[in-house]
Amino acid sequence: MSCYPIGVFDSGYGGLTILKEFVRTLPDYDFLYLGDNARTPYGTRSFDTVYRYTLQCVQWLFSKGCPLVVLACNTASAKALRTIQQHDLPRLNPENRVLGVIRPTAEVMGKFTGTGEVGILATGGTVQSGSYPIEIKKFFPEIEVYQEACPMWVPLIENDEYQHQGADYFVKKNVENLLGKGSHIDTILLACTHYPLLEKKIRAFLPDGIALLSQGDIVALSLKDYLERHPEMDNRCSKLGTQQFYTTDCTEDFDRHAAVFFGKPVASGYVSID
Ligand code: DGL
Repeated sequence: MSCYPIGVFDSGYGGLTILKEFVRTLPDYDFLYLGDNARTPYGTRSFDTVYRYTLQCVQWLFSKGCPLVVLACNTASAKALRTIQQHDLPRLNPENRVLGVIRPTAEVMGKFTGTGEVGILATGGTVQSGSYPIEIKKFFPEIEVYQEACPMWVPLIENDEYQHQGADYFVKKNVENLLGKGSHIDTILLACTHYPLLEKKIRAFLPDGIALLSQGDIVALSLKDYLERHPEMDNRCSKLGTQQFYTTDCTEDFDRHAAVFFGKPVASGYVSID
C-alpha cells in the first residue's frame, strides 16, 4: 500500500503552532502543511465562505494523497468540519478522515479547572459558532464557559505588531472583558492557533493563579492517540520524518512569517486554489 503525509490545514500561519507540536510528538511521521494565506483571515467570514474555502483546501490535500487531514484552525473546525465530515467525506473519499482541534481540546478541559469556570479567547467566528460551550458541555456539563472574541489579535500578529506596545491595549481590553464575565475563571484557553504568539503579553494582564492553555500539545497527544487506535489509518501514513509547506499566497512572505510560528526555517511552495 502507498503511504502519504498527514495533511495539516490552516487559514494561514496559525496552524504551524499545532504542526510544531505534531512534529515534536510524532517525529517519524510526514506532514504536508497548507496555509490559505491568500484568503486569510477566516475569523471574520461567514459559515458558507469558511466552509467553501476549507473544503477546497481539504480536497487539494486529498489530491496530494493525504489520507488524514487535520484542520489546525479553530475557525475552520467550528464552521466547516462537521459538514465536511457528514456531507462531503462520504462522497469524496469515504476511507479518508478529517479531524479538527475543538473536540480534542474540549475533551480534556475538565482536567484543568478547579473552580469549574473556564474562559475562551478566540476569533469572532469561533465565538459566534458556540462550538466550545457546546462541546465542553458534552463532556463536562457542570463547567461554565465564558467567551471573548478578540478580532484585533490575528491582524496584530500577522502584521508583526504582537510584541509591541500597541498590542497591549487590545490584549488588556479582551482579557479584562473575559475576566469580567466570570468571577471564578481559573483556566483560559487560547482557542485560536495564532494566539500562542501573544502568550507572554496575555500573561502580563492575568492575575496569578489563572492557567493559560495553548492547544498544540493537547491536539498532538490526541492525534497520537487517534493513530494508535486506528492502525488502518496509521498504516496509510508515511513515516520519513519530513515536513512540506504550501501557501496560496507569496512564498517569501510565508517563509519569513512561518519561521516565527514554526520555530524553524521553512521553505514553502505556491499553490493556486479556487
Ligand atoms: N488561526 C485561526 C484559528 O485558529 C484563525 C485565523 C483567521 O482568522 O484566519 O481560528
